[in-house]
Formats: sequence, C-alpha cells, structure tokens
Amino acid sequence: MAKKIMILNGSPRKGNTAALIEAFTEGARAAGNTVTRFDLHTMTIHPCRGCMAGGKDPKSPCTQKDDMDQIYPVYRECDVVVFASPLYFWTISGQLKCALDRMYALEESDGRPRKEAALLMAAEGDAFEAATDFYDFLIQKLKWKDLGKVLASGARTLHSVRENPEQMSAARKLGKTIGDE
Ligand SMILES: Cc1cc2nc3c(=O)[nH]c(=O)nc-3n(C[C@H](O)[C@H](O)[C@H](O)COP(=O)(O)O)c2cc1C
Repeated sequence: MAKKIMILNGSPRKGNTAALIEAFTEGARAAGNTVTRFDLHTMTIHPCRGCMAGGKDPKSPCTQKDDMDQIYPVYRECDVVVFASPLYFWTISGQLKCALDRMYALEESDGRPRKEAALLMAAEGDAFEAATDFYDFLIQKLKWKDLGKVLASGARTLHSVRENPEQMSAARKLGKTIGDE
C-alpha cells in the first residue's frame, strides 16, 4: 500500500544527508509512495517556548506562528516521518530537534499520532550510538514503528555519500521497502 512520507531534512548543506534523502526519495517514489520534504534550514522555525498552551487550532496548533504551519498539515496526514540529519556532536542537528520539539503542539490538539519512522544520517566518523539511542527511545515512547535506518559513516567531504554506491543503494532500498508490507 502506497504511503505518504514526510522527510524532515536537518542538514543545512546540499551534501551527504541530502544525497541520502535523494536516494531514499527515488526508491520511495519508485514504489508508488508520495514524498514531501522540508529543508528545515530554509524555513523560519523558532525554538519551542514551552508555553503548554497550544492545540487550540489543529491546523495551526502552536502559539508561535512561523513556517511550522507548513509542516503541521503534512505531519497530520502522513504515514511515515523520516528524520534526516548530519551527526552534530554525536546527535541530531539543532534544526531537526527544534522542529521535533515544535511537533509537540499537534499532540496538544490531536493527541499522540501513530506513525512509522525512519532515520537517515551522515557523519565524518561512525559514532552514531547517542543519535540512534535517542531515535530508538523516541520511537518506543511515541509507540511508533521503526522502518529502518541508514547511517552513512566516513562522510568527510561534501560528496562522500554521493560517491559511495553502497550508502546510496542502502538509502534507495530503504525507500523502496516503504509500503511493501
Ligand atoms: C557542528 C558540527 C558537528 C559535527 N559533529 C560531528 C560528530 O560528532 N561526529 C562526526 O562523526 N562528525 C561530526 N561532524 C561532521 C558531519 O557529521 C559530517 O561532515 C557530515 O557528512 C555532514 O553532513 P551534511 O553533508 O549533510 O552536512 C560535525 C559537523 C559539524 C558542522
């Protein structure tokens, strides 16, 4: 069954995370899924203020009005959320964490959505443990289903992942498996 996939891109560069996203998207679209991607660094997304006063309007659930209003309707409708990020200080980028915190506002109106999720990450080294522990714990606590991870290590230059057929193929394959079951 074809699925609606939302990708949150937490990388500010057209580099390694972007390459993983492109390969994943190619696979996912080839399998008949629809993909909406948000390049978070191009959007105005303020950090959560912790007001706990959101949720009044499900279309625009946060008390802050910014580009999260483009994400909320897609988030509500999607089946799969793909978290994509470079490894920054052994965890996800601030851009991605910022958007994730703001997704809380939708829970204040809709309750907790049930989604599936995947993780795409690139790093110069290979110490993904803190990031994957966080992702696994998040998915467990949200009662979401993990569809898989692609962790591209050794990404030292802007084009490392694009020049690595194995990493590109892993991302394409993961995209292709979405909606398979
Ligand atoms: C602020 C910052 C922190 C980083 N921290 C790590 C790190 O903890 N471990 C690591 O292996 N690479 C780290 N890197 C390197 C990036 O993860 C790596 O260059 C990655 O390929 C960037 O992905 P991108 O091309 O999508 O931006 C860091 C880079 C930056 C800019």
